[in-house]
Amino acid sequence: MFLGIDLGTSSVKAVLADETGKILDHQGVEYPVSYPREGWSEQRPEDWLEGLTAVLRALGERRDLSKVEGVSFCGQMHGLVVLDEGDNVIRPALLWNDNRTVAQTDALNADPGREKLVEYTGNIAITGFTAPKVLWLRDNEPEHFRRIRKIMLPKDYLLYAMSGVFATDVSDASGTLFFDVANRRWSQPMLARLGITEDQLPRVFESYEIVGTVAPAFAEKTGLNPGAKVIAGGGDQAVGAVGTGAVGKDNCSISLGTSGVVFAASDAFAADPEGRLHAFCHANGGYHMMGVILSAAASLDWWVKDVLGRTDFDAVLAEVEGTEIDDLLFLPYLMGERSPINDPGAKGIFHGLTLSKGRAAMTRAVLEGVSFALRDCYQVIWDRGIHPTFARVIGGGAQSPVWLQILADVLGLELRTISTHDGGAMGAVLLAMTGCGRFASVTDAAAATVKDVQVYTPDEARHRRYEEKFAAFKALYGRNK
Ligand code: XUL
Repeated sequence: MFLGIDLGTSSVKAVLADETGKILDHQGVEYPVSYPREGWSEQRPEDWLEGLTAVLRALGERRDLSKVEGVSFCGQMHGLVVLDEGDNVIRPALLWNDNRTVAQTDALNADPGREKLVEYTGNIAITGFTAPKVLWLRDNEPEHFRRIRKIMLPKDYLLYAMSGVFATDVSDASGTLFFDVANRRWSQPMLARLGITEDQLPRVFESYEIVGTVAPAFAEKTGLNPGAKVIAGGGDQAVGAVGTGAVGKDNCSISLGTSGVVFAASDAFAADPEGRLHAFCHANGGYHMMGVILSAAASLDWWVKDVLGRTDFDAVLAEVEGTEIDDLLFLPYLMGERSPINDPGAKGIFHGLTLSKGRAAMTRAVLEGVSFALRDCYQVIWDRGIHPTFARVIGGGAQSPVWLQILADVLGLELRTISTHDGGAMGAVLLAMTGCGRFASVTDAAAATVKDVQVYTPDEARHRRYEEKFAAFKALYGRNK
């Protein structure tokens, strides 16, 4: 059997699969996020480890975990975990969605500056990345900063506890802003800028490589076989993309979750010179670009639940079928925006209201507005020479046929839905299987397991109309910035 572990923000989940990749069992345990101050977001790494131990014990009551041949990980990215000389956690981890680092982010974008940051790392600074968190600790908790012997990412803490090996992988390291993505190694100028040294950092592996084996003490606690192989794993977006088959040249996936993600794989390194999208290493040995919009399904949720006071999403969305493309515009910047505009101060807008525009037209505008924000990310990907022929769509929004058709028409791109819901944990299983030699490559593993369910073909005439409307969407933001 193979084990995929998904270390999320609300829970840790494990999926157990057989030697063909068929899911046999799964188990999850939740833990809290603490928000000690406005904009802060933290978790105790010890809670992740206790959660994982509980998950494995529960699975072990139903299955013989000593038969697990390989284990791998899919982890929430960017979080800062710091250990002291005795391997004790120095303070709770600062998470990917922690926003305390505005001053440090601005400082990095000024020195060494965006252009140099892109040269060193492929990316510019945003508050979520790890480098501004390191600076924050140096500025605000110098006592803690001085005690640091090991800096790691969230899933690497579990991997360290399991195997005793201080290791990370290229995809997760990419989200630190102190990793040279193009050359797949730590960035010396960035380490110097942050005041840290390479001996404080984990050794870097490809996501599908074996880093070690399950340590006897961890095996004893959980029923895993000491000697089972531990495979590096990766950041949740890259590993999730393995689960949707977005690996290899020009393959693309789109996530319509609370936030929205446009993810495009490439064989060669491609970064946006302005750093509008993230340019990271992929889990299959290649690269990917990724745009993250903060309010995707969150915009629809806000509109249907908070504004309309409804919970029957299907009925609200059904009204959109009777509407036409008009000139009503919605900017979905309800929590500011990450990609591609990187503007934390951006706000939402409805523009073009008249007496004849009612609820249905406004619902349509919300679906279109989120689609345009994704289109805006997609443009940067396209301009870098990555030209997908279709995209697979996952997340809650992928359950709405009307939204998928609008998105296909806006992007001018064929969209497909797939059957799996455990994308992340399944991606981790595929990395474990590849590491153990069951597949020749991660790309082969994905090709053998991902199955399409439904296809949405863009309509040429509607796409042309949406291209005009997209220009108006861009201009509306520009005028109101
Ligand atoms: C990626 C990102 C999220 C987090 C949390 O850049 O911020 O995917 O990893 O899931």
